[in-house]
Amino acid sequence: MQHPSLKPFPGDFLWGAASAAYQVEGAWNEDGKGPSVWDIFTHQPGTTFKGSNGDVAVDHYHRMDEDVALMAEMGLKAYRFSVSWPRIFPTGRGEVNEAGLAFYERLIDALLARGIEPVLTLYHWDLPQALQEEYGGWEDRRIIADFEHYCVTLFQRFAGKVRYWVSLNEQNYNLTNAYQLGTHPPAVQDRRRFFAANHIAFLANATVIKAFRHYVPNGLIGPSFAYSPAYPASGKSLDMLAFENAEEFTNWWWLDAYCLGRYPRAALAWLEQTGEAPAILPGDLALLAEGKPDFIGVNYYQSLTFTSNPLDGQTMARINTTGQKGTTPSSGVPGLYRTEKNPHIETSNWDWYIDPTGLRIALRRLASRYDLPLLITENGLGEFDTLGSDDRINDSYRIDYLRTHIGACQEALQDGVQLLGYCAWSFTDILSWLNGYQKRYGFVYVDRDETDAGSLRRIPKASFYWYQQLIASNGEKSV
Ligand code: BG6
Repeated sequence: MQHPSLKPFPGDFLWGAASAAYQVEGAWNEDGKGPSVWDIFTHQPGTTFKGSNGDVAVDHYHRMDEDVALMAEMGLKAYRFSVSWPRIFPTGRGEVNEAGLAFYERLIDALLARGIEPVLTLYHWDLPQALQEEYGGWEDRRIIADFEHYCVTLFQRFAGKVRYWVSLNEQNYNLTNAYQLGTHPPAVQDRRRFFAANHIAFLANATVIKAFRHYVPNGLIGPSFAYSPAYPASGKSLDMLAFENAEEFTNWWWLDAYCLGRYPRAALAWLEQTGEAPAILPGDLALLAEGKPDFIGVNYYQSLTFTSNPLDGQTMARINTTGQKGTTPSSGVPGLYRTEKNPHIETSNWDWYIDPTGLRIALRRLASRYDLPLLITENGLGEFDTLGSDDRINDSYRIDYLRTHIGACQEALQDGVQLLGYCAWSFTDILSWLNGYQKRYGFVYVDRDETDAGSLRRIPKASFYWYQQLIASNGEKSV
């Protein structure tokens, strides 16, 4: 569709930016916080880029007031952040740690005082280590009650203050790394265990959405999903089939479970034949049907292109974690699909495709299939940034990325998509889980690297001032 003209963004559009607890807070063992699986994992040699970890991160825990002041200066309408479960329940359950709740209450109050809508993510991967050790975390159904208790504690405390809630962040990406690639804790490589843990996470997600209806009747909740829309490598029928396989296994498997309360048929049939299907107990599907979201949180970074893969073909491969362009191998599942280079789309230094039209395609596919409002909970460019001798960071490449992707949002709105807002990833620079501090995403530069916590000084980048203007003009001024 080529629209002759575009309507302006809605007046109440949520212009936002995002972060996650482990990636910004630091203070990993302060004020009663218990260890998360990431605290333990990153302290083991060889797990992350140059041994980087979130012990200090960008010290947001101690610099929260300064960070919120910068958000206000920028004119943000929304700020998405996550709560660290082991800050609230140091061992996952039991006695609540009031100091943890108080930190988030101060953050929420500071945002509200400046007219910034808090978007609260309940789970951005930092599972309490105690629950991992006690029963294997997401592999045991006991986690459902513990997760519900933790979430209800937050619902009760913040129901009157927070309207937008995200349940699980990128269950698809996190559990694929945790149980297929072995690159996130607990570093397992076992597809059967992957599908089993993933099923339990769906049940936990539905359970807290059900509880949410009772405790936060005026709020809105949904999961954030890492959606890379699939493309076929060519018009050949086998590439089209591979693309269908990829869409079904890497996307609809999650989104159908969240939004329709069932698994896609061909994918389930395949897994039943390979013996990898999860155990679906009586009552599971009914629970999924009762816990459907109000919106879909969309984390979009890139599209992916697929071709066919024989039964003895390409297996899953690890992502580029160095920023050395052109080093990402093909990755796939034998008998289903494998990724293929797309020669038509340029990439970042980490080989992520820069594809704004892919965002429009993503939003349209989701809106048409699920008929739900969408909220972009992450979109941004991870790149090397250089602090100039004049103390400036001219990240024009990031401005280009954001401008074109926001343009795609405006076109998607014209296409009929109900889009609530756009949260850029990220507000300040953050710890990139496996890429250290060199892969920067923020509007605000933070002076630190992998080995040295540095001065942690905040320096707004050129993109900060660009986004400030864009917000002030409600999306009109994207010069
Ligand atoms: C998403 C996560 O996977 O993408 C974020 O929700 C993450 O936490 C972001 O930082 C970018 O990924 P990466 O690997 O470049 O940090």
